[in-house]
Amino acid sequence: MKRCYKCGQRAVVYLRQHRIAFCKEHYIEWYLKRLKETIKEFRMFDKEDKVLVAVSGGKDSLALWDALNRLGYKVDGLYIDLGIGEYSQKSKRVCQDFAKERSLRLNIVDLKREIGDIPTIKEVEKRPACSFCGQLKRYYMNSFAKKESYKAVATGHNLDDESATLLSNVLSWNMGYLSRQFPVLLEGDGFVRKVKPLFKFTEKENALYAFLSGINFVEEECPFAEGASSIEYKKILSSIEEKSPGTKLRFYMDFLRKLHPLLTQEKLQIKPCKLCQEPTTAEICSLCRLRERVRSKTLSSLSNS
Ligand code: AMP
Ligand code: FES
Ligand code: ZN
Ligand code: ZN
Repeated sequence: MKRCYKCGQRAVVYLRQHRIAFCKEHYIEWYLKRLKETIKEFRMFDKEDKVLVAVSGGKDSLALWDALNRLGYKVDGLYIDLGIGEYSQKSKRVCQDFAKERSLRLNIVDLKREIGDIPTIKEVEKRPACSFCGQLKRYYMNSFAKKESYKAVATGHNLDDESATLLSNVLSWNMGYLSRQFPVLLEGDGFVRKVKPLFKFTEKENALYAFLSGINFVEEECPFAEGASSIEYKKILSSIEEKSPGTKLRFYMDFLRKLHPLLTQEKLQIKPCKLCQEPTTAEICSLCRLRERVRSKTLSSLSNS
């Protein structure tokens, strides 16, 4: 039986990569302290800043919202309703209940009203749902946060997400993506600040925090996620981690410390979209072009019926 390294009581958690065991109370304390230190170390935001936490209803983003609230940060939530049937309805309900129980403010953007739900857009898009969906989420996180004057948007990306993205960017030596892969992306050129405060925590550590804090979260994956290449990269890294605990954290932290400072960011010609004013490298942003295609498709199917 393992004992809590802080109080000597029976441990409920053992973190192999850190070689420490904790009871429930001291795990939560460790998690909150590590989160607070990460926010400070990377100068993500301060106590007086208004922060928008993008929540999906999953363990990571709800753990983040809960932990930031407990640490005393000013945090509101943003749920983007993607209109993916039962999956989206359930996720929305979970976020609403979470906010209500803690008297927190949850903002909701309904994709169906803005442009069209994911199944509708899927009919006019060749790309896999997850890739255009990611783009849509980033667009609405940015435009909403700007409109409501938030200092930063925080997402629940964890170490598994970030190390899998890093592996994918390294395998293709995508220098542009590598130079933009960082836990803080500063505001400017029409973009709000974007932060990933959970990047040092594994998916499992976030799940443990959520579970031990009594957070109700959605366990189902998005039905369109199946077959995504990121899942393969996560599996590969997890099998290495199994044999050599700490690999994921070392891989990502050493990238930030050793390689990232050597990368130069290509200066993109960003300007406001002529239609929606959101930042883009073209005259009309890709979201406005997509919106037009969805509109034409809807009009043509209406006239055919
Ligand atoms: P994913 O791209 O699904 O791995 O999600 C990464 C992060 O994006 C999550 O941790 C959330 O912070 C945010 N996110 C994902 N889905 C939504 C959503 N429907 N509404 C708001 N934020 C989301
Ligand atoms: Fe967007 Fe899966 S298609 S979450
Ligand atoms: Zn303890
Ligand atoms: Zn636009």
